[in-house]
Parts: sequence; C-alpha cells; structure tokens
Amino acid sequence: MELPKDFLWGGALAANQCEGSFDTDGKGLSIMDVFTKGDKNSKRRVTNGVLTGEIYPNHWGNHFYVNYQEDIELMAEMGFKCLRLSIAWSRIFPKGDEVSPNEEGLAFYESVFKLLKKHRIEPIVTLSHYEMPLHLVTEYGSWRNRKLIHFFEHYCRVVMTRFKPYVKYWITFNELNAIEFMPYFPAGLIFEDSENPQEVIYQSGHHILLASAKAVQVAHEVNPENKVGCMALFGMNYPRTCHPEDVLKAENVNNDFLGLIDVQVRGYYSRRQLRKYQSLGIDIAISEEDKVVLKAGKVDFCSFSYYMSLVQGEDRPGENEVKGNMVAGLENPYLKNNEWGWQIDSIGLRTTLNYLYNRYQIPLFIVENGLGAEDILVDDHVNDSYRISYFENHLKEMKKAVIEDAVDLMGYTAWGCIDLVSAGTGEMKKRYGLVYVDADDYGQGSFKRYRKDSFYWYKETIETNGNNL
Ligand code: BG6
Repeated sequence: MELPKDFLWGGALAANQCEGSFDTDGKGLSIMDVFTKGDKNSKRRVTNGVLTGEIYPNHWGNHFYVNYQEDIELMAEMGFKCLRLSIAWSRIFPKGDEVSPNEEGLAFYESVFKLLKKHRIEPIVTLSHYEMPLHLVTEYGSWRNRKLIHFFEHYCRVVMTRFKPYVKYWITFNELNAIEFMPYFPAGLIFEDSENPQEVIYQSGHHILLASAKAVQVAHEVNPENKVGCMALFGMNYPRTCHPEDVLKAENVNNDFLGLIDVQVRGYYSRRQLRKYQSLGIDIAISEEDKVVLKAGKVDFCSFSYYMSLVQGEDRPGENEVKGNMVAGLENPYLKNNEWGWQIDSIGLRTTLNYLYNRYQIPLFIVENGLGAEDILVDDHVNDSYRISYFENHLKEMKKAVIEDAVDLMGYTAWGCIDLVSAGTGEMKKRYGLVYVDADDYGQGSFKRYRKDSFYWYKETIETNGNNL
C-alpha cells in the first residue's frame, strides 16, 4: 500500500515572514511590522509604530514579494502539488476597516495564483497567519472588539470572490490556540494593567471563533466546492511516568491545547472549556445567536503544525524545562533537541496524527513541520543532511499513520520551504528551507536562492509519492 495518488505534497510560507515590501503598493502596517528582531536569548518587542534605530526583519522577509516568480519556479521544479501561503490582510485592506479593497494588493496575489495554476500547484490559503492590520489594534482594541468579526468577514468575501477561479482550499486562522501562550501572534493582544489577561484572551478567542465560522460560511456560499480548515498548534503531551497524576496532567494539557480548536471542528464549546472559564472566574459573552453561527461554521478539515512533543508531570524541583516558542514541558531523556532547544520526535508525529484523527474524525492536513537550523553555504552549496534525516524520519511515521493506522490525511507541507524570517525570534539564520536565501539577520546579502541537498531529496520524495521512504 502507498499514499493516496492525490496526496498534497508541498511547502508552506507566511506572508509576513517572506514577502517583505512591507509598505509597497498601498500595503498598510501590520502587527508584524512593529515587531523587532530577537534571538535565542532576547525576546522580540512590539514598538509604538515603526521607530528609527530598531530592526524589523519582517520589513524585508526573504523578498518573496519581488522574487515570487523564481520561487514558484523552484517549487515547480521540486514537483510541489500544493503551496500553503497566506494573504496579508493589510495588503487588501490597509487599515482593515475600509469598504473598498486595495486593487494593487489583490493584483499581487492574483499574479501569484495564476503562476501557481500554470504549474498545477494548488494554493492552500491562510487568511490570517500571525498578521492583521495594525490599525485594527490601535483603533479598535483588536479582537476584544466584536466589530472585527464584520471586518474579517468582509475581507474573506472579497478575496474568496476574487480568487474563486484559483483557490479552493482555505485556512482561517493560523494556530488560533496559540492565543493562550503568545496572544500577540494570532490576535495582536497586549494587555492594559487594569485588564484580566485571561478574560481578554478568551473573549477575543471567542470573537475569532465567530470570525472563523463566518469565513467558513462565506467560503461555502461563494463556491460550494471550497474546503475550509482550522489550524492548530499541536504535538502530543506525554506523561512523565505512568503515575496516574502524571497521566492526568498530560491529558489535561492536551485538552487545554485543543479547547478552542474543538469549537472550530465540532461547532460548539465543550463542557470542559466552559467549566474552565467558570473556574477561572471569567465571564465570556456567548450569545444564543453566537451558538448558531458556530454551529453553521464547522470546518471541513483540521490542519496543524507539528514541531515537537512535550512531557508533562507534577512539578518536581530541579527538573529541566524544555521550551518551544509558546509551549513548555519537561525534558524527555529519549529525545534530542534542535539548536533552539526544540525536542525532535518523529514517532510523536504518528501519535499526534492518531490522537487528532480519533478525536475529530475529519480529514487532517500537516501544514507545518520542519527543522530550523543554521545552514552554511559553502561554494554555492548547502549540505543539510541533518534536515534530510529529520524529514525522512517524520515522513516515515506519517506514512505509517496513513497506511497502517488509516488516518485520513490530505497532505504535507514543509514549513518555510524557502528560507524565511523566524516567527519566534525574527532571525534569518534559523532556516527551515529546501532553498537557501543569501541574507543575514539584518537584511544584508544578495537574497540569491540556492538549492540545498534537501531540495533534491524532497523532489525525489514527491516524484515517488513517498515510496523512497
Ligand atoms: C509556527 C508558525 O508556530 O512555527 C510559523 O505558524 C513559524 O509562523 C513556525 O515560523 C516556526 O517557528 P519559528 O519561531 O522557528 O519561526
């Protein structure tokens, strides 16, 4: 047995991390345009507007905005069946609250989609990947405000109508559940001293859920063939030992992670999630009308990012903590870390696929996975054998999940297939690509593209539909 013939192999990008040209052709400022560079030891900061003397890596990204033709040719050369990319909301509605869209923004994505179509690469389009017009934050208080649901719905209707000839797969919000860990990324949230952060997070989360449900409805209305997905940040949380307390703790963390995603898939809040709000003493305004909207806006598939598993257990002094961008757990002695301390666990991908499929029973899509590493270009060549073995191990487990465990999986997109700016640190040197981009953390370099060794390996994997694994 092998993977389905129509398995969607490809790569993934996010507008704010790759496009650059942050103020070109009428684009408005987005929340990522005021986010400074960080590194392994220092966090990125949000500044009050664009300030001189600060470094904003998303202003240049990897130059996809001007280089997309060459980049898509490279993807076609690898045999991509799909490309997951996002639309920068602030290119279409620079402030977010306008009635008429910015034609130059629409024209840019139309050229991208036309070229993808020419190469028979199916676009998988995220409507908001850690990006929204900054004006919606400064003027409306971001997703605290219900008005944003209407602005988002209008944006969706405009892009879904205009791109109907090209796009049939949509993803509403990237890693919506990250709102609990890093609320700035998916929701542009920064808290006032007077606010209860959890109340703001879950009320904003509720508004985003409504916006997501509206987007599903609009997509189905514009084209009944459209398929819309949610997108979860998820990797298994293992119990530290078989001690029932550790097992309970791990399962609680898994359930907490998926509390908002459950709503997108099932169309209603779990009793557990509502009890959580009660226990936290927060009052989330969920009307009867809202419940109808959520029910009518269930997603067609569940996409997710997988980078690591975590270990959970009751706290014991002296134990090492392991961290991703947003999530933390205990050190797993059976796993190795990448250079940024993320635990690499290929079998965990199979477990995760089974866990999500058993929970939701709708098609899944791995839309992010990959290894961030400091690649070195020597004589125009990058030997990234470590990335090849990372992919090889993960994809073998993915195949087992599909073939042996019968998980319904639509496809796999390798994250940051062309090197781009890291979301967590803003560094360029944390590279995921199959294609190397000659640029440093400060936007210096030729931005020339070079095929890495993994480029050729992935091409063969796609060509053989994974039979080389
Ligand atoms: C995911 C995000 O959480 O992780 C991406 O959706 C991000 O935008 C990816 O780039 C990897 O994280 P980082 O910090 O290594 O870029």
